[in-house]
Amino acid sequence: MNERKQFRAIKGTRDITPPDSALWNWFERTARDTFESFNFREIRLPIFEETSLFARSVGGETDIVSKEMYTFADRSSSAAEGAPADPGDLISLRPEATASTMRAYIEHGMHALPGNVKLYYIGPMFRRERPQKGRYRQFYQIGAEVLGQSDAPAIDAEVIEMLMLFFQRVGLTRTTLYINSIGDKNCRPAYVELLRAELQKVKDQLGADSQRRIETNPLRVLDSKIPHEQDIIAKLPRIADHLCDACKENYAGLKRELALRGIAYEENWRLVRGLDYYTRTTFEVIAEGLGSQNAVCGGGRYDGLVELLGGPPTKGIGFAIGTDRSILSIQESGNLPQLPGLAVFVAWMGMDAYPTAVKIARTLRDAGFDVELPGEEMKFKKLLNLADRLGARYALIIGSDEVASGTFTLKRLADADQKKLNESELIETLKSERGNRA
Ligand code: HAM
Repeated sequence: MNERKQFRAIKGTRDITPPDSALWNWFERTARDTFESFNFREIRLPIFEETSLFARSVGGETDIVSKEMYTFADRSSSAAEGAPADPGDLISLRPEATASTMRAYIEHGMHALPGNVKLYYIGPMFRRERPQKGRYRQFYQIGAEVLGQSDAPAIDAEVIEMLMLFFQRVGLTRTTLYINSIGDKNCRPAYVELLRAELQKVKDQLGADSQRRIETNPLRVLDSKIPHEQDIIAKLPRIADHLCDACKENYAGLKRELALRGIAYEENWRLVRGLDYYTRTTFEVIAEGLGSQNAVCGGGRYDGLVELLGGPPTKGIGFAIGTDRSILSIQESGNLPQLPGLAVFVAWMGMDAYPTAVKIARTLRDAGFDVELPGEEMKFKKLLNLADRLGARYALIIGSDEVASGTFTLKRLADADQKKLNESELIETLKSERGNRA
């Protein structure tokens, strides 16, 4: 073993370091503020669950469950040390959080809460996919779910409104919203059979994945990105022509409700999504500048999922935003927010000035400013140089003159403008600058 081995983050994972982490925090803060203004509340969930929870909800035949989960035997809860794990004890890192939210909803009897239960979550998800730009093995989602007794299209539209408002607030505006309806248990089975029969006729012209999906999940063939399959897919029967009256009415209602809210969308009959729990409404948002991994959000309705997991009859709809990709897209657009960052570098000189420096640093921090206070005495030139390199907006100069006169010298680093101020003038000046930036 080479003892000087350089450890590196595992393939498909990465560190979010400053200053990017500030962007991430701002992005997540904006989501919280936006979602809470629609009366959503946060749920914090475990990052691992029983494997069978995901198999049952996301679907055992999906790529996510069949190929991409990080699954292991939970030795501590299975019998003796070294004994083979009971398959029922398998646990997986969560590949998504809708399943966990349903599990929690049932476990805590949330159906008894008044009105619709509106939850959001923020955190890492894990899928063993081939890493590439915008695709990671540990990635982050911000998700929202509405659970209750109603499947009114207004609920779907409001969830989409909230999503698009959030994207607008974070400057992710070069996006397209795609919507579709994939029917329900009354009309979809017949459509799936029709699709299967049509696909059988062209089977020889399809690639291996699509051939396999004719049996396992014909709808997923519609999702194919393989160039030579596109013309074939374009001629397949479309679900919109096979919806039952109730689904048709629901879909028309969704479009009316979106129009009422002034939300632009495109219909995409091939939007079937890669998870099995969806019924009726499905939607996705794609953003520019991301290459092939350009979906920044996916969601849809999943009536019946709670029942499938042993809970009471419940309707549901939700979405999950991919934070990694959204932030990449914002960075590529150059449309970055002005985040406050380091306001004041306290440039104290001489041990006489040090107690004043400690005190004013605390006062400014209490007033809400980010402050850097050097822990060691430094030469003036070095202090100002460091203030500059740290990106501070101001250097607060405190030397023997300032201590004697009870004042501070505030130097704006951008233009070297310099003022002598007392404590209250100092705070006023910094606050008015902050006001101007907002
Ligand atoms: P999903 O479409 O699988 O849906 O994922 C949602 C979003 O997560 C994607 O649009 C993408 O932005 C991001 N994402 C997925 N995989 C990766 C990856 N490997 N690397 C980076 N980003 C990724 C769901 O997860 C559903 N639970 C959404 C939902 C909630 N439906 C109803 N409620």
